[in-house]
Amino acid sequence: MCGIVGYTGSSQAIGYLLEGLKTLEYRGYDSAGVAVLGTDGALHGVKCAGRVATLVERCETANLVGTTGIAHTRWATHGAPTDRNSHPHRDCSGRIAVVHNGIIENYRELRAYLQRGGHTLVSETDSEVIAHLIEDAWAGPSAGNLVGAVRNAVRRLEGSWALAVVCADAPGEIVCARNGSPLVVASTSEGAYAASDVTPLASVTSHVIQLENGQLARLERGGRVTVFDAEGAEVDVPSTIDIDWDASAATLGGYADFMAKEIAEQPEAIERLLSGRMGAHGVTLDELSMTGDELASVDRVYLIACGTSYHVSLIARTLIQTWAKVPVICDYASEFNYENDVLVTPHTLGVIITQSGETADTLTAARRLKGMGCKVFAITNVLGSTAARESDGVLYVQAGPEVCVASTKAYTAQMVASALLALRLAEAQGQMERAEVERRYGDLCRIPDLIREVISRSWQDKRAAQLFRRAHSALFLGRGVNATTALEGALKLKEISYLHAEAYPAGEMKHGPIALLEPGFPVVAIVPEDRVHDKTVSNIQEVIARGAVCVAVATDGDEAVASLVEHVLWIPHVPDELLVPIVAVVHLQMLARHVALLRGCDVDKPRNLAKSVTVE
Ligand code: G6P
Repeated sequence: MCGIVGYTGSSQAIGYLLEGLKTLEYRGYDSAGVAVLGTDGALHGVKCAGRVATLVERCETANLVGTTGIAHTRWATHGAPTDRNSHPHRDCSGRIAVVHNGIIENYRELRAYLQRGGHTLVSETDSEVIAHLIEDAWAGPSAGNLVGAVRNAVRRLEGSWALAVVCADAPGEIVCARNGSPLVVASTSEGAYAASDVTPLASVTSHVIQLENGQLARLERGGRVTVFDAEGAEVDVPSTIDIDWDASAATLGGYADFMAKEIAEQPEAIERLLSGRMGAHGVTLDELSMTGDELASVDRVYLIACGTSYHVSLIARTLIQTWAKVPVICDYASEFNYENDVLVTPHTLGVIITQSGETADTLTAARRLKGMGCKVFAITNVLGSTAARESDGVLYVQAGPEVCVASTKAYTAQMVASALLALRLAEAQGQMERAEVERRYGDLCRIPDLIREVISRSWQDKRAAQLFRRAHSALFLGRGVNATTALEGALKLKEISYLHAEAYPAGEMKHGPIALLEPGFPVVAIVPEDRVHDKTVSNIQEVIARGAVCVAVATDGDEAVASLVEHVLWIPHVPDELLVPIVAVVHLQMLARHVALLRGCDVDKPRNLAKSVTVE
């Protein structure tokens, strides 16, 4: 979702700003823009709908010379993705420019108020009002004080924002403000930087300051960064985080696209996560920050997440309920936040699962759970993210930067993290003997090699992808834990190939989706060796009887399935059927990628989607 970059320093700003926007492309966007304070004392800028590459081309002829500037990638919420609605937005004088991530909920009232006051607003966005509110403050109570003017302006805002502001009359200065949407700043000898997340900063520093909600920051050309609270008082020790991602981790490194790279990285990511997790006293999960007694008293788990992470929560539910015998409720964060009947007990453990750690709905849900007295534990990938900082405990899945919008390595790593949590709970609840915990941990440790084996069979997915080349729709079927694998497979396919895909528990097919089936209709069935195998085979028979074409994910040697279906995506034997989703989904990731490539889609940057959804 919207990306922000800002720089003020001793070098020309434009190079860093455009490079920064490129590193933020993965967040998802539909337009981009930049404003630089020129040597003539005026703001100059370019903004346009479309890709950063288009912006880069336009900047080549715009001659944006200057050492202070801000830039933005926009993911449209209010107003279509047009040149005019792109950021930065200016005030009436054109001397103040603002980039914004978030949603200003009271923008209609503010717009009317500003128009009554004689301001001319030129875009359809909620963001533009901010530039005009700053203009008023600069002309009145905060004359000559950009921090004061921004502070005055944000006081009137309702909603969420991360802002970077430049003013031609405050040369060399950028003022940032944060409420709800993430923003990091950094101070270096070359200058001061601001960004929506650490990715654009990884190439310039390893220490960043994460602004807290309500805080503002002043960035000065000499590299100085001063942080203020909402009352305008200087904050002494802003929380800093060390970036442990080297910049090259977010480059293609010889792969055709980030999705291919991230699929390939799954075995190592899981190995990193599992390493050293079996200690003398069982599963080591110190990050939980809960004593054995506290874990033993947990009587309910609430799992909250969005998107692919929600699918992780469905798998986690089965693992926790089966191994720890603790009842689990899963909910989409966006639903949970508005439910009246939240079934929280005094000993409920809240768990949020979020790759980015910045998904607005998930953060709201975590705050709601904490407000109800629950301890909240975060499973996340991004170091120092809001989810990590606001939770009582955090388990980093250590998958490394995930750039492709469609999540792959974070999905499998989050499932493994959930399995560790389930084992730890099972131990603490007295539901599992030490020997069984060790055996199950051993099963988890075999997963990386099983995934390596699946990846080596990607030619099977490439071949099966041909079936979907001209399809309009596809159905994914699975039972038990693999009903979730079906959900994730369908999500991957629709996200990146724009092919409608629906997932159903295989046994439910006859209650509706079967009406869709006709000759040539593609169906993907996940049918590994497990206790529901034969039932799913019967559903495959029903599919084939109606002329539909079936692709099956099946276990090596399953001749019964091979003799029925058009293509088999083979998986090796997995020691525990509850762990099959972590292995089987890799085929579905590769299948979706091949289908998307065949259909000429950009697999890394699918239209309309954002990697980090920072608005509710
Ligand atoms: C967006 C992304 C998905 C992701 C979801 C939740 O929709 O495109 O890939 O699963 O957000 O994100 P989170 O960072 O909370 O896991």
